[in-house]
Amino acid sequence: MMPIRRDLHFKLPAARVGDWHNEGRHVSHFFNALSLFFPDGERFFIHAVRHYRNQIQEPELQRAVTAFIGQEAMHGREHTECNEMLDEAGLPGAPLQGFVYKLTEFMKRVLPKSSQLSITIALEHLTAIMANSLLQDSRVVGNAEPHFARLWRWHALEETEHKAVAYDVWAATMGRNPLRYLQRVMGLITASFVFWPLVAIFMWRLTRADAGARAERGGWWRTLRFLFGTPGPLRRAIGEWFDYFKPGFHPWDHDNREYLGGIEPLLRDLEGDTLARAA
Ligand SMILES: [Fe+2]
Ligand SMILES: [Fe+2]
Repeated sequence: MMPIRRDLHFKLPAARVGDWHNEGRHVSHFFNALSLFFPDGERFFIHAVRHYRNQIQEPELQRAVTAFIGQEAMHGREHTECNEMLDEAGLPGAPLQGFVYKLTEFMKRVLPKSSQLSITIALEHLTAIMANSLLQDSRVVGNAEPHFARLWRWHALEETEHKAVAYDVWAATMGRNPLRYLQRVMGLITASFVFWPLVAIFMWRLTRADAGARAERGGWWRTLRFLFGTPGPLRRAIGEWFDYFKPGFHPWDHDNREYLGGIEPLLRDLEGDTLARAA
């Protein structure tokens, strides 16, 4: 699977940033909270993988790494646009993203390079399983404002395309032994227990600052029902989260490349969008 860097613009309608999801403002801000992590988080992934780039012998994996870096850089750029809209709407996008920046800079400074890579492959696993949930069920973003929906589908498709790249860098440079296995699984445990509470705090900060969200009744309950009930993107990802603990785990053990057929219709759809084309 060779990822392809695509330079796309989504031209999100700024006025809808707080309520672009059909399930309301709280669910919109759940996704917005994730969006705030992407630009600096993905820069951290690029940084972690780059340390090992010169140690990769296989030309195909080298090419995949270049494409991975290109894709993550594009994701960062488009999510930055979305995050800036939060500030324009009077929401604390910049300070929250500033926190992510400080956290990732701290991790770059204090963590050994191998731990930075183990955190990266863990977070790539989390994004890959969430991407799978999004692509699996059109109700996750399919009924949302179309520009935002396209941004999220595009990101999910490319996360699927490159889901094994960082992992393959790990496998090619770290070798297989019990200590590396332990470091890999500890990476997922640490990443999950730090990341999800932060997402909840970010969502809380956004909803508290948004008068429309404050007026929305039962928003948190609706978000929990959406994430863990129907359509349940997080509930459906739980099984795959555990797959990571198998000693011989590989991201493509779960072969979901059938969803990648969705890229062409998405590109055609973008092509036909005069708003996006004006970019
Ligand atoms: Fe990404
Ligand atoms: Fe990624």
